[in-house]
Amino acid sequence: MVGGKEGLLHDAAGRADRYLEGLKARRVGPTEGAIERLGSLGGPLPDQGEDPASVLRRLDEVGSPATVGTAGGRYFGFVIGSALPAALAANWLAGAWDQNAAVEVMSPVAARLEATALEWIRDALSLPPSSRGAFVTGDTMANLAGLAAARHAVLAGAGWDVEARGLFGAPAVTVVVGDEVHVSVLKALALLGFGRERVVRVPTDGQGRMRADRLPELSGPSVVCAQAGNVNTGAFDPAREICERAHRSGAWVHFDSAFGLWARASPPRKALAAGIEDADSWAIDAHKWLNVPYDSGAVFVRDGRHLRAAMSGTAAAYLPDSVDGEPMEFAPEMSRRARGVDAWAALRSLGRSGLADLIDRCCRHAARMASLLRAGGCQILNQVDLNQVLVSFGTENETRRVIAAVQQDGTCWCGGTVWHGTTAMRISVSSWATTDDDIDRSASAILRIASERPS
Ligand SMILES: Cc1ncc(COP(=O)(O)O)c(C=O)c1O
Repeated sequence: MVGGKEGLLHDAAGRADRYLEGLKARRVGPTEGAIERLGSLGGPLPDQGEDPASVLRRLDEVGSPATVGTAGGRYFGFVIGSALPAALAANWLAGAWDQNAAVEVMSPVAARLEATALEWIRDALSLPPSSRGAFVTGDTMANLAGLAAARHAVLAGAGWDVEARGLFGAPAVTVVVGDEVHVSVLKALALLGFGRERVVRVPTDGQGRMRADRLPELSGPSVVCAQAGNVNTGAFDPAREICERAHRSGAWVHFDSAFGLWARASPPRKALAAGIEDADSWAIDAHKWLNVPYDSGAVFVRDGRHLRAAMSGTAAAYLPDSVDGEPMEFAPEMSRRARGVDAWAALRSLGRSGLADLIDRCCRHAARMASLLRAGGCQILNQVDLNQVLVSFGTENETRRVIAAVQQDGTCWCGGTVWHGTTAMRISVSSWATTDDDIDRSASAILRIASERPS
């Protein structure tokens, strides 16, 4: 008997296998009919329960067709990875374990795998050996945790205990961001009481990189929020110059590096993020370029004491008191799923060389897509050094038409953006599953649609 019904998990595995296999032939976006049929999953809470096998069947028959094929090789929207086979399988097993990763005594295996996976990530990305990490839900929470550590450190430096006294009457903190700061950093700043609009904005260059020469002179408690991997172009803020200038005045440097930091795992691309190791905290996603299932991200802080001070609450009598700190003392949540399991399995299955290959392959695919589209007469708006490609099809209206028609066509899925005032198709190659053939098929579909100009 499993979950109240013999064979239920086997059934789930079979359905999941067929789903993943089916993605190769299926259109990437769901049909309108599939979305309409979702209505049958709603309605009032039934009085009587349903047999688990029938619940699963209903979910697969109605739910699977209404998914977006992000787990396949031809989804290029936003910045979305797909789960590596080992990570997905580990995630299923971890689901059966149902461990709480709050404190070690609740799950020694979750604590060990989390610590090992964080250590492997720290090593693969060449972050300072002293830095301390924690798993969180994604890059937004990693930004929140890193900036909470920054808030603690710069205010403690000014003699203020922000965790105990809050921001009421605290010394003012200067917060600096680049003009192309990601919205998740502004959200984190708002949640931390710094205010989204109170920030000092630094101009950016043609690729969206913060101009280090335009950083203001800083004094007093200050935090500089920089970016590795611009969400449109993939460009990197100049880390070495930013850290050097900011540290001269004692400011904290935080890097929002949701996907860009993974470039450090690739020997040919590591130089793109040169000097980032000089920062004080880093936010990173695992569900993007490490290709683990949603949701998963991590924060690293050079001096883990600041992260612990910011994240640990008042000790409850029933909780263990450990010298090195329990996992929950470094993360915003208390009860948490064991995210380290999937990350450990992804890294164990890839190894250092496989991780480098994953990053390089996505970048090569992005370059191939850019060159096929350029050869077909499209305009590529960014320098394609990483995995992001911005494409214009001429006028704003024409670009919008092509994006909508590509989504409708279903061969691949690409989103839109406005880049420096120009409407663009935004292509992000972030999945292990993408092949050369996926790129060629997708580029042909895009070019075919672009050539079908309405008369
Ligand atoms: C640069 C950057 N920062 C932050 C985020 C937010 O990450 P998450 O959705 O994992 O919270 C993203 C997501 O695309 C991103 O690209």
